[in-house]
Amino acid sequence: MINEKKDIFSGSASATRAKGLKGEIRVPGDKSISHRSVIIGAIAVGTTAIDGFLAGEDNLSTINALRLMGVRIKRTEESTVVVEGGGMRSLKEPEDVIDAGNSGTTTRLLMGLLSAQPFFSVLTGDASLRKRPMKRVVEPLLKMGASIAGRKDNSLLPVAISGRRLRGISYSTPVASAQLKSAILLAGIYADGETTVLEKERSRDHTERMLKLFGADIEVKGNTVTVRSTKELYGCKIEVPGDISSAAFLMVGALITPESELVIKEVGVNPARTGVVHILKKMGGSIEVLNEREVCGEPVADILVRSSRLKGVDITGGELLPAIDEFPALCVAASFADGVTTIGGASELRVKESDRIAAMASSLNALGVKNTEKEDGIIIEGRDVDIEGGVVESFGDHRIAMSMAIAALRSRSGVEIRGARSVDVSYPGFFDELERLKVR
Ligand code: S3P
Repeated sequence: MINEKKDIFSGSASATRAKGLKGEIRVPGDKSISHRSVIIGAIAVGTTAIDGFLAGEDNLSTINALRLMGVRIKRTEESTVVVEGGGMRSLKEPEDVIDAGNSGTTTRLLMGLLSAQPFFSVLTGDASLRKRPMKRVVEPLLKMGASIAGRKDNSLLPVAISGRRLRGISYSTPVASAQLKSAILLAGIYADGETTVLEKERSRDHTERMLKLFGADIEVKGNTVTVRSTKELYGCKIEVPGDISSAAFLMVGALITPESELVIKEVGVNPARTGVVHILKKMGGSIEVLNEREVCGEPVADILVRSSRLKGVDITGGELLPAIDEFPALCVAASFADGVTTIGGASELRVKESDRIAAMASSLNALGVKNTEKEDGIIIEGRDVDIEGGVVESFGDHRIAMSMAIAALRSRSGVEIRGARSVDVSYPGFFDELERLKVR
């Protein structure tokens, strides 16, 4: 089965300038939490009712995969999903290949889950996903006793998985990756004994929080997580907070335009995700995190952003990890900051939905922003002046497309974005919402 979903490379958008972003907005639900809510709900006993689910294409790929395994999932409204879970041993052998589309999270989390199921399954995805590294996930699962075979010596999709009885392992991950950690934990709840994952730096911990909420025996100490063999998980009510990775584009848009005052309501502010707030504040951004509270085990807050004069800064790999998906948005902030911004220690960016270092370097070049591409990051020579505009590509990457729409806010003649349809992966309705907030 060859799947060439060309549509993320289709569509074009004419993004235009604005004096500011003003008003209040709720961004769509968190992509990472939405994936986990349906996956964990599917293997829990009873009903998991999810509010604020992100109906982006990545999350719909996860729903489709679970439906192929016999899970009953209803979408009652745009962002309300009800999963009727049948328990840890209820999944059925899918009759067809599971197509994860553009979604790395769907693929890697399901690889962990499928390794422990008593059946055969095959996972594949679109052209971008078929280039992304899978060996990092296959290796620990093989150590647990899984049977997996993938293209190019187990490093690329498609992969075929024959589920087995697994044994717990203790594993130090070579890269700080929440998808990798989550795959091992989802296999670990089925494995005999204990499964421990040690990370050098702590990646996002949504899986740990949600497994705990559903009743798993899980313990977190610093950068180490241990799960024990679990008999059953129990369905929960989940409220998904707004995705800070989507909010980041609007935050940058508000900062770099002169007449902005924007409140982004009910955003997830898990400390493993708020790197963008810290970095933008370090650049001189006026950002206030208000009304912080906890909802379904995740911290949530409202974020107030005002126009600010930004300055260039040095951003290290450690600082970027909790803002790893915000690299495109941060590059735009750096473009309109006074002085040089250096981002380093981030070679993982080369294996995201696109090679995000190369994609941003070439997009900024097309807009006349001086930059130097490095193997593990980028150097941007920022200037607090408007750009002319131009034509850019999304590289089929939702976050590159949205960052270009934000850069367009400071363009004289606008930016034509080719492949704008990719934004549907994580933020359906993004362009309309941006128009609504614009001060002209
Ligand atoms: C994600 C983890 C991160 C992130 C991705 C979502 C997740 O990827 O970039 O957008 O939901 O677990 P890695 O695990 O590859 O770092």
